[in-house]
Amino acid sequence: MFLTHLSLKNYRNYKSETIQFANNVNIILGENAQGKTNMMEAIYVLAMAKSHRTANDKDLIRWDEDYAKIEGRATKKNGALSLELIISKKGKKAKCNHVEQKRLSQYVGHLNIVMFAPEDLNLVKGSPQVRRRFVDMEIGQVSPVYIHDLSQYQKLLQQRNHYLRMLQTREQQDETVLDILTEQLIPLAAKITLKRHEFLLLLEKWAAPIHYEISHGLETLQIQYRPSVDVSERMELSRIIEAYSEKFATIKEREIQRGMTLVGPHRDDISFSVNGKDVQTFGSQGQQRTTALSIKLAEIELIFSEIGDYPILLLDDVLSELDDFRQTHLLDAIRQKVQTFVTTTSIDGIEHDIIKEAAIYKVHSGHVTAPLYD
Ligand SMILES: Nc1ncnc2c1ncn2[C@@H]1O[C@H](COP(=O)(O)OP(=O)(O)O)[C@@H](O)[C@H]1O
Ligand SMILES: [Mg+2]
Repeated sequence: MFLTHLSLKNYRNYKSETIQFANNVNIILGENAQGKTNMMEAIYVLAMAKSHRTANDKDLIRWDEDYAKIEGRATKKNGALSLELIISKKGKKAKCNHVEQKRLSQYVGHLNIVMFAPEDLNLVKGSPQVRRRFVDMEIGQVSPVYIHDLSQYQKLLQQRNHYLRMLQTREQQDETVLDILTEQLIPLAAKITLKRHEFLLLLEKWAAPIHYEISHGLETLQIQYRPSVDVSERMELSRIIEAYSEKFATIKEREIQRGMTLVGPHRDDISFSVNGKDVQTFGSQGQQRTTALSIKLAEIELIFSEIGDYPILLLDDVLSELDDFRQTHLLDAIRQKVQTFVTTTSIDGIEHDIIKEAAIYKVHSGHVTAPLYD
C-alpha cells in the first residue's frame, strides 16, 4: 500500500501543509527540530490513532490551537483508502472512507505501517514495557479484537488493583468483589496471552532466516515469550484459562498483601537469544542491532503474509545509526517493494543507489518543499 497524500492541520509545528508522496522512497531532509519526526509521527498517528512518542494526545496539537487534524489518502491493493483523524482536547474522532468510526479499534489497521526509529534499537535492551508495547502495536494492526480485549483488560486491571489496595489497607474486608474481578480478568488475560504467543511464533519464523542472512550465516535468532503462565506449543485457550485460574488461586493472599495484580499480560516479557545466548545480557551491540533490524524486516513480511499487502515503512533517523552493511541489507530488502519514508539531516549518510530513485522533500520549521519531478 502507498500513502499518496498527507494533510496536516495544527499538527505539532505544522500549521497547514498538504504533501503528495512518491510510491517508492521519500526522503525527508532537514536540520534538527524542523519537523521531520513530527511528520513521521503524524503518519504513525494516522494509522494507529496514537503516537509512538507520547501517551498524551494533547501534545500533538499545535500550541495555542484547539485541535489537530491529520488526513491521508492511500492506495491499497483492493482500492483507495481515505483516513481522517481529528484530535481535540475532548478526544479523538476518526473517519475511514468518510464514515465516522465509533470505535478506534475499528479504525486502526486500515493503514499498515512499520516504524523503525533509534529507540527501536532499544527493543532488546530496553524495559519489558518497550517489548510489550511493540507486540501490542503489531498485533493491533492485524487484529481489532486484540485492541478491544487489551483495553478491556487494562480497565479491569485498574479496578482490580484498586480493590486489592483497599483490601490491603483493610478499607474493604469482603473478597467477593475481588473474586468476581478475577473471574472477569482471566478470559481476557488468556486471550491476550494466546494471541501474543501465536504472534511471537510467527515473528520468529520470519525473523530467524533474516537474522541468519544479515549475520552471514553465523547467528541463529530465537524469540521466547515469557508470560506469567506456561504456554507450551499449540496450547488451547481453555488450558490457558485453567492455568491462570490455578495461578490466581495460589497467589491471592500475596496479591492482597502487596495490593496489586501480580500475574497477567501486563507482566509479560520477551527474550531474544542468539546461538542460544540471551542477547540482552550477552549480546554485542552489533548483535542487538541485527536483532532489532531482523525483527523490523520480519514485521514487514508478517503483515504482508496476513493481509496480502505490504505496509508502509517509516525510518526515522535510523539509517545513519546502521553500519553500511546493515543499511544496504535493509534498503535492498525493501527496494521496489515497500513505500518507505526516510528522515535524515544529510543525504550523504545514505550510501545506496536507492537515493537516485527517491523523492526528496525539504522540511524547514514546519514547511515542506516538495521535490521537483522531471
Ligand atoms: N505541539 C506542538 N506545537 C508546536 N510545535 C511543536 C509541538 N510539539 C513539538 N513542536 C516543535 O517541533 C519541533 C521538533 O520537531 P521534530 O519533528 O521532532 O524535529 P526533527 O526535524 O529534528 O525530527 C521543535 O521545534 C518543537 O518545539
Ligand atoms: Mg527527529
